[in-house]
Amino acid sequence: MNAAARVKELKEQLAHHDHRYYTLDSPEISDASYDALMRELKKLEAEHPGLVTPDSPTQRVSGTPLDKFEKVTHRQQMMSLANALDEQEFIDFDERVRKGLGADAVDYTCEPKMDGLAIELVYEAGDFVQGSTRGDGVIGEDVTVNLRTVKNLPLKLTGEGLPRLLEVRGEVFIRKGDFTRMNERLVAQGEEPFVNPRNSAAGSLRQLDPKITAARPLSLFVYEVGVVDGKRFASHRQKLEWMKEVGLPVNPRRYDTQGVAGVKEAWEDLLRQRHELPYEIDGLVVKVDDLDARARLGQVSRSPRWAVAWKFPPEEMEATVEDIQVQVGRTGAITPVAWLEPVFVGGVTVSRATLHNEQELRRKDVRIGDQVFVRRAGDVIPEIVKVITSKRTGKEREFVFPTECPICGSKVKKEEDGAIARCTGKHCPAKLAGRIRHFATRTAMDIEGLGEKLCEALVDSGKVKTVADLFSLEVGELMTLERMGEKSAQNLVDAIARSKATTLRRFIYALGIPEVGEATAKALAEQFRDVKKLMAASIEDLQAVRDVGPEMANAIHGYFEDPDNRAVVEALLGAGVNPEPPEAPAAGTFTGKTVVLTGTLASMSREAAKEEIERRGGKVSGSVSKKTDFVVAGEEAGSKLKKAQELGVKVLTEAEFQALLS
Ligand code: IVH
Repeated sequence: MNAAARVKELKEQLAHHDHRYYTLDSPEISDASYDALMRELKKLEAEHPGLVTPDSPTQRVSGTPLDKFEKVTHRQQMMSLANALDEQEFIDFDERVRKGLGADAVDYTCEPKMDGLAIELVYEAGDFVQGSTRGDGVIGEDVTVNLRTVKNLPLKLTGEGLPRLLEVRGEVFIRKGDFTRMNERLVAQGEEPFVNPRNSAAGSLRQLDPKITAARPLSLFVYEVGVVDGKRFASHRQKLEWMKEVGLPVNPRRYDTQGVAGVKEAWEDLLRQRHELPYEIDGLVVKVDDLDARARLGQVSRSPRWAVAWKFPPEEMEATVEDIQVQVGRTGAITPVAWLEPVFVGGVTVSRATLHNEQELRRKDVRIGDQVFVRRAGDVIPEIVKVITSKRTGKEREFVFPTECPICGSKVKKEEDGAIARCTGKHCPAKLAGRIRHFATRTAMDIEGLGEKLCEALVDSGKVKTVADLFSLEVGELMTLERMGEKSAQNLVDAIARSKATTLRRFIYALGIPEVGEATAKALAEQFRDVKKLMAASIEDLQAVRDVGPEMANAIHGYFEDPDNRAVVEALLGAGVNPEPPEAPAAGTFTGKTVVLTGTLASMSREAAKEEIERRGGKVSGSVSKKTDFVVAGEEAGSKLKKAQELGVKVLTEAEFQALLS
């Protein structure tokens, strides 16, 4: 074969594998084989420069830094979407649509609202020739060279009879996993991490040096077409399917629905899955499916009448820092906390946000009086993302980190890496209150009604000196506490008594042994089956337990060496606490098997899938190795799926997994 033919073949093969890898998330060859093809192409191109074409996969990064971006006038305006902020606003939208069309029920196609940056791509007879930002909708900026570096953007479309001119619209974004890895890399290099995926995607695309953009893990989804010459579509769904066919990355997550009820179901479903999706979204885009109907509805100012963005509750909001105080946790760790003017974020009202530790506080430079962005995503603790420095007035005050514990006055000692500062007081009431609170928590002893404030009151009044003292509390003495009536005192005493019948895993977790979380507590309970045996275990015995490493084994051993801790456990058992050992695991479908979950499962959450596997005797692991028995691959499975294929590990589709469960 001559060089020209081989180059053509290599280009086609590499484009095919890029598509399999970046768009379909289903690679056919290993990284090494891919690299070999790429090397061969580079070598041939170096020997025959005349064979280098712009659509070659070697040319994704090309050109020198620009002085500025050229302006691009969009052939057709890039519109923006009107928002629906609640159900009523969506009902109103639907009513306008139905009225406009004289229809009873409308077919809607719903898509996740990607939280990225809108772009337009122009293809001529299948070749990618230009890409631009949305700009003001009429004029954008030419970011062609930067867009070429986006790995799942096809430089050439596939198939016959491609339109002479095709404009597609979509969104450039950064996946959550890529974002975390990128930030870890930046921090390791001593650079400032990015605040969120959206900002970093926008910033990356608008780099004048395409090499910088190429180093950023940008992704693309397309969702609309603009001008198209030589192709007609009847519906949005048809258009999406066609874009997929010619190799463009279309989000596989889509709801084909009808009417308000159908859309509402889709909205609720997507909201439930929001945090499990591999990218950030801020709502559901609802579009009239029929394109003739769209034409009849038209647009108002810059938004179409045929689509709306039904937003999710915001996860980031502006707030004022009214004060900064420190909290002392059960391990003595001192955490600075920002007290905020209450804001509604992530679906709840938030008035405090963690600042994690002194380093974080300094890095973010949060001051009392600052305007900040607060974020609360899912069940995670609200945190401050960034100070809005442009809103500083000069009246803000810096927080002085204490050198003494604000509760007991003992010295504060910083750990070696400098991140965590701890109170050194052995009898610090804050630590004790924290330990009691942890003991009572839902996933530990589950003592209803024993909240933070009450724990503090019990410690301050001297009624409780160790968690074992809880079991001798009486109604009468509880009633001497502030705001404690007879009824609530009785309820608390009952709740404490009920907690005596518990499981060994809960009991071990409740003790608050350093390093021991719920999973380790479970493993320890299964291994030792009796707390006395756990107390007597040597470091070697402990290390033999699944997932227990040397550091953790030392921590557990050290905990039980302390006579005070042993006395507390004895006192708890003496008070009638009766931790039930776990049932011997029943033989099940997954007995003795290690399973890795990857991608998004449509039918259940990852947590639920994990529980199902564990109930059937299996173990769920986070990474794929030769020891993995199965990989369950959901939608958009990525590198783990690839690794499984490389190692020859059995891959189950969601349907196959479901079949094994039932
Ligand atoms: S369609 C006229 N679909 O939301 C309709 N937009 O204000 C054009 N967006 O600028 C947009 N996900 O950046 C559409 N699935 C989706 C989208 C989406 C995110 C963004 C887009 C646009 C903004 C609307």
